Amino acid sequence: MSMHVTAFAPASIGNVAVGFDMLGLALEGVGDRVSAWRTESAGITVNEVRGVDGEIHPYLSTDPMQNTASIAAQSLWDECGDEGGVELKVLKGVPLQSGMGSSAASAVAAVVATNALLNQPLPNEKLLMHALEGEKYASGGLHADNVAPSLLGGLVLCPVPLLPRTISLPVLSGVGAVLLHPEMQVSTAQARRSLARHYSMQQWLEQQGYLAAFIAACTNDDIELVRASLKDVVIEPQRADNVSCFTEVRVAAMRAGALGCSLSGSGPSIFALAEISHVKNLAIVMEQACRGIGIECQSWISSMNAPGAHIED
Ligand code: HSE
Repeated sequence: MSMHVTAFAPASIGNVAVGFDMLGLALEGVGDRVSAWRTESAGITVNEVRGVDGEIHPYLSTDPMQNTASIAAQSLWDECGDEGGVELKVLKGVPLQSGMGSSAASAVAAVVATNALLNQPLPNEKLLMHALEGEKYASGGLHADNVAPSLLGGLVLCPVPLLPRTISLPVLSGVGAVLLHPEMQVSTAQARRSLARHYSMQQWLEQQGYLAAFIAACTNDDIELVRASLKDVVIEPQRADNVSCFTEVRVAAMRAGALGCSLSGSGPSIFALAEISHVKNLAIVMEQACRGIGIECQSWISSMNAPGAHIED
């Protein structure tokens, strides 16, 4: 049994346009780290939360009842822990309220680190529901489209009625992702509360068709079918106005050859999928479009099979 571990959990793209609350993609090169130590005092505590700049995080609480990392880790500890406890140190790499699965990344890294300190660690897939406890606290709803890819890596289908079952989809060869984060914030909980509660048969049929076709495109490695199906006609139109640069960035991405472009989760981040030969240029034009209307931004390029959470030391 280890006494101290650090886990990394990647950021992720929620919904991936076609699958509201049920499809997510892990990202490379950006995520949260949680270090964990055994303690004699009972239960989970949070020692500190730091931002990317290394400073104490100005907004996130160390109250274990108000931090997604400790809430998730406590859920695991309640099931598998002993009379002692675990102290967590959270290093945020994912911007808050970014639509990049920030709360999910902390929750996943915390359960993966805490799990490694157990006498008998659980297999990764058994950690999903514990990580979801943290995510539920943050977003006010039960959806695994950030937690599942952050935990498992790659592109993961995770329909709520089938949880804890998830389905890792085949990777589209030759396709990469660009994620652009404009410097603004959108509260997922608030964005979820604003969504319409009723939808038409037409919307249901159309979106269901796009989701089914996108999954077939992944299974058959069919890039043209990705281009035809990577669309959100239900949720994106309700949220696009929350992100003032969305239209400009989307137009620029599609002109530069994106297969599709939509909000990541509830935004403000915007993602595009494209053939790998296009992604570098796509990131440049998306950033230019965003800065062109006066909004500072950052972007990441990722493959479709980014690794999931793992222990680093
Ligand atoms: N799927 C959820 C939403 C969370 O779009 O509200 C995404 O981060």
